[in-house]
Amino acid sequence: MTIGNNPKTRRQFLKTSATVAASALVSYNVQATLRDPLAPLSLTKDDVPESDKFPLGVACGDVTSSQALLWTCYEGIYPLKLALWHHKDLTKPILLINVARADGGFVHVDLNGLEANQRYQYAFIELNFNAKPVFRSRLGFFRVAPNANDLVPLQIGAVCCTYNSFEPTILEHAGERQDLDFFLLLGDTSYNDGAETLDEFRGKWAQNLSKDGYLALRSATSVTATLDDHEVENNFNPETIEPDRLQAAKRAFFENQPIRRSQEQPDRIWRKFRWGRTLEVFVLDCRTERKPSTRNQKNAQYISRAQMNWLKDSLSQSEAAFKIIMNSVPISTFPFFSESDRWEGYPNQREEILNFIDQEKISGILWVAGDFHFASIGKVDKEGPGKKQQEILVGPGAQFPNYLCLPLNLSSQFEWASARNNYVTLNFDPYKMNIELVYHGGAEDPRLTRRGEITEIYRTKIHLGKQ
Ligand SMILES: [Fe+2]
Repeated sequence: MTIGNNPKTRRQFLKTSATVAASALVSYNVQATLRDPLAPLSLTKDDVPESDKFPLGVACGDVTSSQALLWTCYEGIYPLKLALWHHKDLTKPILLINVARADGGFVHVDLNGLEANQRYQYAFIELNFNAKPVFRSRLGFFRVAPNANDLVPLQIGAVCCTYNSFEPTILEHAGERQDLDFFLLLGDTSYNDGAETLDEFRGKWAQNLSKDGYLALRSATSVTATLDDHEVENNFNPETIEPDRLQAAKRAFFENQPIRRSQEQPDRIWRKFRWGRTLEVFVLDCRTERKPSTRNQKNAQYISRAQMNWLKDSLSQSEAAFKIIMNSVPISTFPFFSESDRWEGYPNQREEILNFIDQEKISGILWVAGDFHFASIGKVDKEGPGKKQQEILVGPGAQFPNYLCLPLNLSSQFEWASARNNYVTLNFDPYKMNIELVYHGGAEDPRLTRRGEITEIYRTKIHLGKQ
């Protein structure tokens, strides 16, 4: 294997941003690197064997039409490089750069200047002290989003709720696929209940992300992640939780997910991503901005005024045919849950956003939620605000089944519901404004799910025409 004659002098990289908060996030412009006259380099994935110093694998997230955030966690002692290959040519990396590790071994590298709509492959590479590559991480794959005006079919996946005591076998199935443009993680990706210190939160994340399901999924395609309560603690109250504990939980969340952090507000979770003119994804934070002390009052706060205004403005301005709202806790009415932990406990804000979408006649909206440990497809409400809007529940990926969903199959509000562990794929047809939904299910008891027994359990097409 060769990496050129003089690796110390060959490469100059354009550094376009500096460290953000606690992570060593550095941004690199791929186009600038490609213009390096001393490129190309030569290095194939077969030149170096895989190392066991990347126990949490690799991940890619927050992809746009020119950017991708690449991630790993490295336990070794050697200097690290990131190698990026164009999918069309796996012999010559188009990028080979030094990457920095933050405390805990976490690496976040923000690439920009990528080609829209193209597929790439990447790996992190350990160098020995003579600057020779000796080992690498597993290989990761991702697709860059299409250009803003491209109206093209897309296919994505989604899941939530993978309990640390179970194997997320369902995600091994998803991780073997090569046809998913990206994947939504709706929260409860790691159940960190009981953790109080940063080390304890890191330990819980490592326990879950080192499982075969997550190793496979997160290397197969990029993810767009939000959190739910268990990344912190079951049904935590942000007004009363010990601030240091909440801070440790948030830090561990950002350390372990490939998320591009806001320069102005590094802890902000809500953000949006556009995939051509086909799809825009709005990632909500339904947990950390709540004020339960205001519940059922006139000005009750489920999400901050800033998040609400951003969501309304963004939906109004969106030129995408489909608008997915990633909503960790469902907004639909259900016949059996207490309202206190949900949008329904904050009816002023629930009605504000549902009425806004109806009154502004915003088309192509699909709410996508998790949290309840069952899958369902239905209208947000039978009557009143939201009756023209649809919400699907996805997952759980590895959790006890919730049989409360079964009566939903008899309700006119819902098309279908299932307690089986699952992930879903959404296939967007922007010409007909249809989304084909396919739920892939394992056993009802996640401990009994076997890789070979994961099958399609429900397929349907929903139409999202003009309101
Ligand atoms: Fe959950």
